[in-house]
Amino acid sequence: MGDLNVSQMELILQNVAESVLLLDSDLRILWANNSALQRINKSVDYALGKLRCEVMSCKLPHAECPVEEAMTSMKSCSREVVVNGVQWSIRAYPIIDKLGELAGVMEVSEDITGRAEKDRELRALVESVSDGIWRWNVNTGEVEWSNRAFEMLGYVPNELRMSLEQWKSMLHPDDRESCLRKELAGINGSEAGFSIEFRLKAKNGGWRWILSRGKVIRRASDGSPMIVVGTHFDTDERKEHEIALKRSRDDLIMLMSRSVEMKDPYTHDHQRRVSLLSKKIAVSIGLSEKQIETVEIAALLHDIGKLFVPGEILVKTGNLSSLELGLIRSHAESGYEILKDVEFDKPIAQIILQHHERLDGSGYPKGIKDGDIFLEAKIIAVADVVEAMSSHRPYRAALGLEAALEEIRSNSGKLYEPEVVNHCLKVIEEGFIF
Ligand SMILES: [Fe+2]
Repeated sequence: MGDLNVSQMELILQNVAESVLLLDSDLRILWANNSALQRINKSVDYALGKLRCEVMSCKLPHAECPVEEAMTSMKSCSREVVVNGVQWSIRAYPIIDKLGELAGVMEVSEDITGRAEKDRELRALVESVSDGIWRWNVNTGEVEWSNRAFEMLGYVPNELRMSLEQWKSMLHPDDRESCLRKELAGINGSEAGFSIEFRLKAKNGGWRWILSRGKVIRRASDGSPMIVVGTHFDTDERKEHEIALKRSRDDLIMLMSRSVEMKDPYTHDHQRRVSLLSKKIAVSIGLSEKQIETVEIAALLHDIGKLFVPGEILVKTGNLSSLELGLIRSHAESGYEILKDVEFDKPIAQIILQHHERLDGSGYPKGIKDGDIFLEAKIIAVADVVEAMSSHRPYRAALGLEAALEEIRSNSGKLYEPEVVNHCLKVIEEGFIF
């Protein structure tokens, strides 16, 4: 057996909080620090030379004892064990001499009963909430989940090993790209958090709507995220209601849209076609999903005020008197009046009021200028002109798409917003057809 150089380690180890023992290969105590002696409440003279298990009243079976395992395997061994109701964290390090032989073992142990109790309480708290809770190690890609996160997908706890890669593979294909983009932006952004909604594949093969919120709680020195924690909230029921509600709303919007066209059959399908082109322009500009939806709805209803214009004027084929022209032009304000009290997320009524306004103030009904006109109204204005000119009207044949494009091109910056004109031309160049 080689010599143990106990004296060199003594100064460092004597006063650490953990109990430290140096044992020979028969597991007799060669050295014990203050904490270890306090633990057995004996003097150093009493402890030295005695067998570890005599002094430490260790009742662990041989197979479970990390000290014995470290000796047998010649490798360090770490284990949490319970002895007489006390939970210990024991780490055992074999000491190998210069000849490569086992000289003994260093044992470092710590009473973690209080900490383990706190961990159990925390775990119980985590499991008691209705949200799933997760902890993501960004470096390893490992994710720990509470049982609820599995249950909301129909799995029993730990039935699935849901690493980050596994989670990604369970995302609905339509949600994957935006979800991963928002998540990445969320953990790298200054706010260091995200809130995203997506569908995950459940055990029964169906999709479950989940709202996930996450926050970075630890970063590396270069600022990159290391640990992110968050929740999974099951929003399936609410989402189903939302979808049903949206379907009813869309049906109602379409019904309102059709009601104008029943009165004015010459503009058949005009609003739906303007809505299609407006949406394409809004997407091309890169507006948010909400803005795109607003443009789409406002375009579907932009001429709803024509319900208040006498039908014979709408279908009149000859020249219009100034009174008749005034009545037709009043449709922008009437549309506003019809919709101003309807609750939309965005000012649909305002956009409809402005759809005949022009950048230079030559439009109607208010004659407002560029900066006072909503971008959404500018988009509908361009799509409206392009659709109207390329379609047949009671008082003229279709002027054609080329003439319509020339109109917006030549008046870009004067009547029409240049950005909107450019994107409209681009969308049509790329093959858009009504
Ligand atoms: Fe109009």
